[in-house]
Amino acid sequence: MGGQARRRAERSEALTTGPASGLDTRGSESIHSRAVGLMPGGVNSPVRAMGAIGREHPIYIERGEGFELIDVDGHRYVDWVCSWGPLILGHAHPRVVDAVSDAAERGTSYGAPTEAEVELAADVCRRIPSVEMLRLVNSGTEATMSAVRLARAATGRDVIVKFAGGYHGHVDGLLVDAGSGLATQGLPGSPGVTTAAAKDTIVLPWNRPEPLAAALESYEVAAVICEPIAANMGVVEPEEGFLDRLREWTRAAGALLIFDEVITGFRVSRGGAQAAYAVEPDLTIMGKVLGGGLPLAAYGGRRRLMERVAPAGDVYQAGTLSGNPLAVAAGTATLAELDADAYERLRKLTTLLASSLRDAAGSRPVHVASVPGLVTPFFSGAPVHDFAGASDCDLDRYGAFCRALLDRGIYPPASQFEAWFVSLAHDEAAIERTASAAAEAFEVAFAA
Ligand SMILES: Cc1ncc(COP(=O)(O)O)c(C=O)c1O
Repeated sequence: MGGQARRRAERSEALTTGPASGLDTRGSESIHSRAVGLMPGGVNSPVRAMGAIGREHPIYIERGEGFELIDVDGHRYVDWVCSWGPLILGHAHPRVVDAVSDAAERGTSYGAPTEAEVELAADVCRRIPSVEMLRLVNSGTEATMSAVRLARAATGRDVIVKFAGGYHGHVDGLLVDAGSGLATQGLPGSPGVTTAAAKDTIVLPWNRPEPLAAALESYEVAAVICEPIAANMGVVEPEEGFLDRLREWTRAAGALLIFDEVITGFRVSRGGAQAAYAVEPDLTIMGKVLGGGLPLAAYGGRRRLMERVAPAGDVYQAGTLSGNPLAVAAGTATLAELDADAYERLRKLTTLLASSLRDAAGSRPVHVASVPGLVTPFFSGAPVHDFAGASDCDLDRYGAFCRALLDRGIYPPASQFEAWFVSLAHDEAAIERTASAAAEAFEVAFAA
């Protein structure tokens, strides 16, 4: 055993195993007291702060192993966040670790093309037939921003339609949520987003065809962007025929259809949500699983459109670290594991998690939504079809549920408006551990 592996094993012995009760997180607390003075809210991305579930400080992670997270105080948790989606193989999958180490030994970035990028691009195009050509970038936000620029250039129009509760990264013009109701002109969703940046964004309610038809008639729309399965308001599937209408009506209106598959891509099926629903968009945005836990994302589509991107065409977009060898190696190694058996197993694990949470909730007002690889227990008496429904959930009870789960060694997404991410590292025992903790956590949440 090498020095590093031994040190890790020794540390492991000192760790608490199994669910922790009345969690002592003094280590996390002490790190956080330093962090808040150095980083806004102590974190580098807001949802990590855990304020949405009523915790004063987040849990600081020491490392991940398969389906588990281990915190700085030595507690082990079944991880249902999986880095918010990228870790479809779980933490520190040996093939991914090896691929990244091998790549690092040959240099971390060249600022010049590599054959590995070409192989990864070919693999993506094989999996997603609507993507004939793609550009690798570093984050989903960057991919969305670039796809919107391309759509505007290709159509010569400005207006973008998005859906309330859909998240496409922190792109100025898409950080807009005018709430539900009929088509409304976008209002800035954050200070710092100018009225000018928001004015070309129209926000519509998800799953409602009439406002969509009205917007496409009233405005010269460049593109409609959506998560084909909404996952940033919790998991909300498109209703029967909704994506077909999106496809048909955008085409008729001369607008492009952009599917943001940052969450659903390579997860809900080999070809993403567009394969699951047999609807082909003009442009697809990818991220998360594509990078296997390293910063990698992409946008792609038909050759005719993508050839507008520089240097083949005139739409400028660039990146110092785009397609860097470590991220490409992690992504390639991850996709290599995702064959038909893997998707079948992911589907079964998801169904088991969803039904176990349903059983644990019993007759309480909880609706568990799921698609392969994603689950959301909505604290709602009725099924959720849009952002208005998700917003009506009992957020206090969801918070109490999550806090009680953490006390019992389960790490859930710290927001009702996020999906639980299933990985291939999870197994029946992890789900059983989750189900018995959830039975107690529902009791705690509904006792209040
Ligand atoms: C659907 C969707 N699109 C885009 C993004 C932005 O990706 P990134 O965080 O890599 O910028 C996210 C992030 O969660 C997402 O869920």
